[in-house]
Amino acid sequence: MIEVRGVGQRAGGGRRTLRDVSLTIGSGELVAIIGGSGAGKTTLLDAIAGVRPPAEGEVSFNGGAGAFGYVPQDDIVHLEMPLRRTLRYAAGLRLPAGTPPELAERAVDAVLKALALTGRAGQRVGSLSGGERKRASIAVELLTRPRVFFLDEPTSGLDPATAADLMRLLRGLADAGTTVVLTTHHPPDVAVCDRVAVLARDGRLAFYGAPDEAREEFRVTGIEDIYLRLAEAEPHEWEGRFGAGPVPVAGPGVGAFRQWALLARRNLDLLSRNRLTLAVLAGSPVMVLAMFAVLFRPGAFSPESPSPGATVMILFWIAFGGFFFGLTYGLLQICTELPVVRRERLTGLRVGPYVLAKAAVLLPLLAGVDALMLGVLRALDRLPAMGWGTYAELFVTLLLCSLAALALGLLVSAAVTDPAQATMALPMLCFPQVLFVGAILPVPVMAAPGRWLSYAMSNRWAFEGLGHSLGVERLWGSGRSPLGPPLLASYGDTFARAVAVDWAVLAGFTAAFLAGTCLVLARRT
Ligand SMILES: Nc1ncnc2c1ncn2[C@@H]1O[C@H](COP(=O)(O)OP(=O)(O)OP(=O)(O)O)[C@@H](O)[C@H]1O
Ligand SMILES: [Mg+2]
Repeated sequence: MIEVRGVGQRAGGGRRTLRDVSLTIGSGELVAIIGGSGAGKTTLLDAIAGVRPPAEGEVSFNGGAGAFGYVPQDDIVHLEMPLRRTLRYAAGLRLPAGTPPELAERAVDAVLKALALTGRAGQRVGSLSGGERKRASIAVELLTRPRVFFLDEPTSGLDPATAADLMRLLRGLADAGTTVVLTTHHPPDVAVCDRVAVLARDGRLAFYGAPDEAREEFRVTGIEDIYLRLAEAEPHEWEGRFGAGPVPVAGPGVGAFRQWALLARRNLDLLSRNRLTLAVLAGSPVMVLAMFAVLFRPGAFSPESPSPGATVMILFWIAFGGFFFGLTYGLLQICTELPVVRRERLTGLRVGPYVLAKAAVLLPLLAGVDALMLGVLRALDRLPAMGWGTYAELFVTLLLCSLAALALGLLVSAAVTDPAQATMALPMLCFPQVLFVGAILPVPVMAAPGRWLSYAMSNRWAFEGLGHSLGVERLWGSGRSPLGPPLLASYGDTFARAVAVDWAVLAGFTAAFLAGTCLVLARRT
């Protein structure tokens, strides 16, 4: 049973979108929320479901925990994947741990059949018709047979026959004990419901009770005429004739590790289906490497004729390359699917496994790109001949640099509202990591505030670590180059620190940014 008591909501700007709504929804009841467009149906549904907890009043769930389903008004599922695969991942995330794969597969088949989508199983979700996509969105939540099921306009975009089928399905669910709350604009949907909540303009509850009583109350013969009556009177005239906190308990506990493994697989799957992302992931390292090869001359590190200015720039741009790839890989990861995450959070998705699954898939890609960058630059003699040990050190530094940037990218991606904002953030994140790193301008000659700021630049630690491993101090100090000693002097003891310290700092940045990402996501979802 769900008790809604004195619930009110305010939109941004303080406008009231819901006023003092109280109603009780019995266990296993099918309840429709109707009212004009903008009356506050979605707002009420979200307040009851806990998607957006109410500003005033409270909603309480009695009768214990159970799976919980929420189908939003917009169909929010990944568009790139085939329907059956979408449902398989959804089943993995929602069905209890230890569910045998055959059983999960049977659940998938059953919902496909129930929603008349069997023939569409192999089709990309993005290529389904509007009504099919709506049903696909419902199918995702039906997999677990939720105990409480919220649907925002499940029948919109469906033809009358399919809509009636869907309502019969929901009626059946309710008869089997699931509490179903939905919003609708289709009068015929209301007939099969146990109760109807009528919202007048401004989010006032004009009526709550059985559909027959609603017709009597409004003195109309059909539900559709209620809309006309609502338009005649002032909203407050309907109010106050009828008469409670949002804690939907998460669904069956899927272990954190299992969630992580499943999400990692899904990320890989999505990645491989998105051509644009793939092109960016593979194309940008190749282009950047080509630029490096064209820009730098071979032999900058040769002890006979070292060219200190070039060595500083090579070190810096390698570090920046690692940073840039990590950042770009991370930036578009979360902001592109935040609505999906929000929806899955309602069914028990944990932010920790989600964020780590992102990192797990991108880590090998970054490792490959970083290794490629070092390998190609060495092969072209832009980097000096040195032992495997040195190159292993360089690789670790660079990978940690990429990881810190990846984590920063994820953090920003979780904080922005859309991909356009994430794209705008990219230069703003890159600029300081160029200016305050101590390559363009050595740290010892920076103004004091700039020097302080340089500590916060993950790139600085990578740049200095790379320089230490390559022994640039010894190289410049060899004295055969007239530029050597004075340049070295301006860098002070920049490259003196043991590289393990740089690693620790970079790992610290990574951990902090990842933790920040989890916090931001937990707050926003
Ligand atoms: N985040 C928001 N910021 C500002 N106003 C909002 C916000 N969310 C909803 N509103 C306003 O609150 C009112 C109720 O919105 P709601 O989405 O609940 O309407 P609805 O009854 O579901 O309408 P529809 O039938 O068109 O889906 C609308 O006037 C809407 O503009
Ligand atoms: Mg709505």
